[in-house]
Amino acid sequence: MSRVNENYLKLPGSYLFSTIGRKVREYSETHPEKKIIRLGIGDVTQPLAPAIIEALHSAVDEMAKPETFRGYAPDLGYEFLRNAIAKNDYQARGCQIAADEIFVSDGAKSDSANIQEVFSADSRIAVCDPVYPVYVDSNVMAGRAGDYDAAKQIWSNVIYMPCTAENGFAPEFPMETPDLIYLCFPNNPTGAAITKAQLQDWVDYANKCGAVIIYDAAYEAYISEENIPHSIYECEGARTCAIELRSFSKNAGFTGVRLGFTVIPKELKCGEVSLHSLWARRHGTKYNGAPYIVQRAGEAVYSEAGKAQLKAQVAYYMNNARYIYQGLKEVGYTVSGGVNAPYIWLKAPNGMTSWEFFDCLLERVNVVGTPGSGFGPHGETYFRLTAFGSYENTVEAVERIKSLQL
Ligand code: MLT
Repeated sequence: MSRVNENYLKLPGSYLFSTIGRKVREYSETHPEKKIIRLGIGDVTQPLAPAIIEALHSAVDEMAKPETFRGYAPDLGYEFLRNAIAKNDYQARGCQIAADEIFVSDGAKSDSANIQEVFSADSRIAVCDPVYPVYVDSNVMAGRAGDYDAAKQIWSNVIYMPCTAENGFAPEFPMETPDLIYLCFPNNPTGAAITKAQLQDWVDYANKCGAVIIYDAAYEAYISEENIPHSIYECEGARTCAIELRSFSKNAGFTGVRLGFTVIPKELKCGEVSLHSLWARRHGTKYNGAPYIVQRAGEAVYSEAGKAQLKAQVAYYMNNARYIYQGLKEVGYTVSGGVNAPYIWLKAPNGMTSWEFFDCLLERVNVVGTPGSGFGPHGETYFRLTAFGSYENTVEAVERIKSLQL
């Protein structure tokens, strides 16, 4: 008789952004006349840059001719893209990452969910709290998280590293020693960043205790300050303790196109086993490669025209971030983030819970954000707004929130 993976049954509710989507859909069905502004999920709104569109068109044309048609892509990624990534994202920043240490995929969400598969079932994971829910949920599905305490909203076998206003939303070393440490900087959801010296401390800590850091750098393109690292491989010793996840979604608007990559240095070992070889084995078995057309679009991100156009796109979103930050601060909200990340993290006013504030904004001013508690217990009473809307909608959303006079 077939039986399900019972770990799935332990997951509370639905995925955060599915719950939000459902609530907004329901509201909109009962209030079809209302114009809802969505600053919830971090989904981009600006069209793909011209250099990317041009690369897509020309790759599509190649697929139309027998002499240039491509079938299965190499499972680890085309050389042209892996070379462009190694050169531009790493070697140009002084990081010793080679093209064959890069594994091209359909995005950082899948990689961040799948990477845990190559580690033992009894590994202890440490996560920031609040945290991008995929890291925890994927470990729950794999049976690594223990049992859920609904009252405290925590898993018995997960080590939580609170990120609070008091510690500048930067995690501190946990009391218990983890095997895997998930870090995301610039951070989703708080929008906080850590300095190179702080990240170096984490690298030293991981090397000392034999842990692996899974470093999600999906938002690195939004860094505006000098001393903030764009990659964990800027730190000494990271090649022996860190895996890095990257996305084309936020820097190049590929949320609907799908492209990302994972970096695993050849020196990175678990005991005597190379994680690079394990991940290559997994990729080869479970993945047939990102589409050729999409990888050509990814290559265009690194062209001179692509770089200039995407710099302007990031600046556009960061202008929104500043607008939200300043607008809400002016009327007395406690706000952070938005300087090195496209997320603004604010305190729900008047002691409201995160979901109370969510309902208040949706129902009273038709603005959608993300309740902080959806990211973990230390997110309770916080709220996240994204800067990925259009400028016009962002301005209108801020004016509507200001009009609430809470
Ligand atoms: C978010 O809103 O947290 C992100 O857009 C989710 C994601 O990147 O998958």
